[in-house]
Amino acid sequence: MTPPIQIRPVFWYHDHVLLIDQTHLPTEYRIVEIRRFTDMVEAIQMMIVRGAPAIGIAAAYGMYLGAREVTATNHQDFLAALEHIADSLRATRPTAVNLFWAIDQMLTTARQVPAPEDRDEVTWIAAIQTALFQAADKLCADDLQTCLAIGEQGLAVLPKEPERLRLLTHCNAGALATAGYGTALGVVRSAWNAGRLERLYADETRPRLQGARLTTWECYQEGIPVTLITDNMAAHCMQKGLVDAVVVGADRIAANGDTANKIGTYSLALIAKAHAIPFFVAAPRSTIDISLSDGSQIPIEEREASELYQIGDTRICPKDIDFYNPAFDVTPADLITAIITEAGAVAPDRLADIY
Ligand code: MRU
Repeated sequence: MTPPIQIRPVFWYHDHVLLIDQTHLPTEYRIVEIRRFTDMVEAIQMMIVRGAPAIGIAAAYGMYLGAREVTATNHQDFLAALEHIADSLRATRPTAVNLFWAIDQMLTTARQVPAPEDRDEVTWIAAIQTALFQAADKLCADDLQTCLAIGEQGLAVLPKEPERLRLLTHCNAGALATAGYGTALGVVRSAWNAGRLERLYADETRPRLQGARLTTWECYQEGIPVTLITDNMAAHCMQKGLVDAVVVGADRIAANGDTANKIGTYSLALIAKAHAIPFFVAAPRSTIDISLSDGSQIPIEEREASELYQIGDTRICPKDIDFYNPAFDVTPADLITAIITEAGAVAPDRLADIY
């Protein structure tokens, strides 16, 4: 039975998009209305919406919002304007390939709309706009189904012993990071629904604290037992025998299985290996970028220093020092036990089997 889906971070409502503002959770549950594509650009940059699949969906709706604003009167100028809108959305965040994938899907949709019989340009543009809305809506609906399938596939490959697992995750790869349900947290939800979850350990995930703020919030909503730890406690928990498996999401997976995910994922994979604990990556196939042969080619986003030098309004270090703030790292394929997708779970070197 499909479990109830309550958390929908990107939602089409009448004639605009509603986003759950993820910068204010868990202290405030705020909904932001997005009516113009430039507002969507800003929302993705500011991480009001974040998480690889969710920013892809947001960008898809952003393309439609932008298409509504174009004033061109012939379809070629219209498509050219759409390319500019796509460029602005592409420039928001570099690492999660789902963003680029979704934008490309939208552009392909627009280009494939046939001319009306009378070749009236205004009718043609209206047909493209309609097709773009339908494509964005479908992308959102499909992602939800994909996440449910990832949850089931993950459940099938989790360790058989013990019956009730202690899982550990990093960042937020949950409903908030997707259309709903989540990827890594989708596997956790499916394990919980099947009676196979004892507890989830959630890394806080410095610097933006997606684990502490978002993952624990999601679990709390549904009564999933969750224990928050700081990132530097994970090795200790593994050494103490508290963790049976690690499940994380992904922002981009290269053809050889190397996986970019939130900064700190790589060190988690290393310590999992050191303790012989299985390490799973859960992601939709749209996160696989077969154009990149290995992870060294994945662009890594660097974000502003303020994420490091202050927590809330409190400055935590001297002013005039240097900062380095990569938002993602790459986990080599040989540290990954299996990549769980909607089409099945495979060892990283068998990605081609499910792509
Ligand atoms: O910077 P963020 O919060 O967008 O990073 C999110 C992650 O790294 C997630 O783990 C990843 O996108 C998978 S989301 C299903």
